[in-house]
Amino acid sequence: MANRPINIYEFEALSNDRLPKQEYDFIAGGATDEITLRRTREVFDSIMLRPKMLVDISQMDLSTTVQGQRIEFPVMADPSGGHGRAHPDGELATVRAAGAMGTALVLSSGSSYTLEEVASVATGPIWWQQYLYSDRGLTMELADRAKSAGYSVLCITLDSTVQAKRERNIRNDYSSPPSPNYAHLELNQWQRWDVSSDAPSGVNALIDRKATWSYLEWLAGNTSMPVVVKGVMTGEDGRLAAEHGAKGIIVSNHGARQLDTTFASVEALPEVVRAVEGRAEVYLDGGIRRGTDVLKALALGARAVLMGRPLFWGLSVDGEEGVKTVMGFLRDELGQAMGMCGRPTIDSIDTSLIGIVSPLQSVLSPPAWPPTSQA
Ligand SMILES: Cc1cc2nc3c(=O)[nH]c(=O)nc-3n(C[C@H](O)[C@H](O)[C@H](O)COP(=O)(O)O)c2cc1C
Repeated sequence: MANRPINIYEFEALSNDRLPKQEYDFIAGGATDEITLRRTREVFDSIMLRPKMLVDISQMDLSTTVQGQRIEFPVMADPSGGHGRAHPDGELATVRAAGAMGTALVLSSGSSYTLEEVASVATGPIWWQQYLYSDRGLTMELADRAKSAGYSVLCITLDSTVQAKRERNIRNDYSSPPSPNYAHLELNQWQRWDVSSDAPSGVNALIDRKATWSYLEWLAGNTSMPVVVKGVMTGEDGRLAAEHGAKGIIVSNHGARQLDTTFASVEALPEVVRAVEGRAEVYLDGGIRRGTDVLKALALGARAVLMGRPLFWGLSVDGEEGVKTVMGFLRDELGQAMGMCGRPTIDSIDTSLIGIVSPLQSVLSPPAWPPTSQA
């Protein structure tokens, strides 16, 4: 088919045509001026690759492990609320796609189907995402429910305590539906983007605004699931997360949807990797749209990456098949880029792949040392 989308950007363009404007904007948008949203792509595009030639690439292997579980390529599905806004099958389609592609899905607590419904059709690894709630009983109740349903990792999102100012949603008078995961709480409030208060509404109002690292440590000590934290953007917080029981850290700024004018997450990645010193696995999300983005993130120290918005683009265009296609683009582009860079395995990807400053810089402004003349 001549018009079929051949990359993630083309999937997004088709979704923009198909989805109601307020839904497209909700998914695509970022916070306030969307400075970090734009910066994220600019940064990825400004990192250059330094390929190696004449390396044996006859046996390519993109598989790796995350929290001890094998995935076929180092890209997972990010937790992202309400896949039903893009396709009636919602997360049932996404989890089937992830399983079929041999990778993991992190299910958002804001999912359109219950965590049990999603788990019942999963064929690959599933992780569960939630928050630190004011009611610690609720925190444990959801974590235990997820564990019993078959989720293997508990992902705690740290960056959503305050409701962000997302101006596209305010302009569209957008409301997010409540998730059936919380149905037993009889929370029927739809979450509206209200600028009169920074206090989250609906389910988000349950998040503990007093929470500190001791809450995380308490949770890690009270669940048998490994805890992965999501939303770390500095080396200091990376170190604290590892010290307080996190077994994994997702370097993320929530897809530039929370605090605007942070660095792109990929810029924060190296300092987190350095500070964590191997005590936890470090992952990255934010702006992953090309196989080369995955390769750059891995070269800068991420064990794997996750993607959010492309899941919705895949779903809205072609449901489960669309998500598989989007994941397949990243897998295939990554394989091609690894081959062309002379890196046949995930372990062979290292920092020497990365170029930030043009080599021409040294011609234009020679280093001050060693001195070139003794005049
Ligand atoms: C529509 C949408 C809903 C999201 N919902 C959640 C959520 O429920 N929990 C969460 O931790 N992150 C949520 N996120 C953030 C993603 O997990 C992820 O950090 C972000 O989308 C990564 O950037 P990318 O979209 O550029 O890949 C959401 C993102 C989008 C686009």
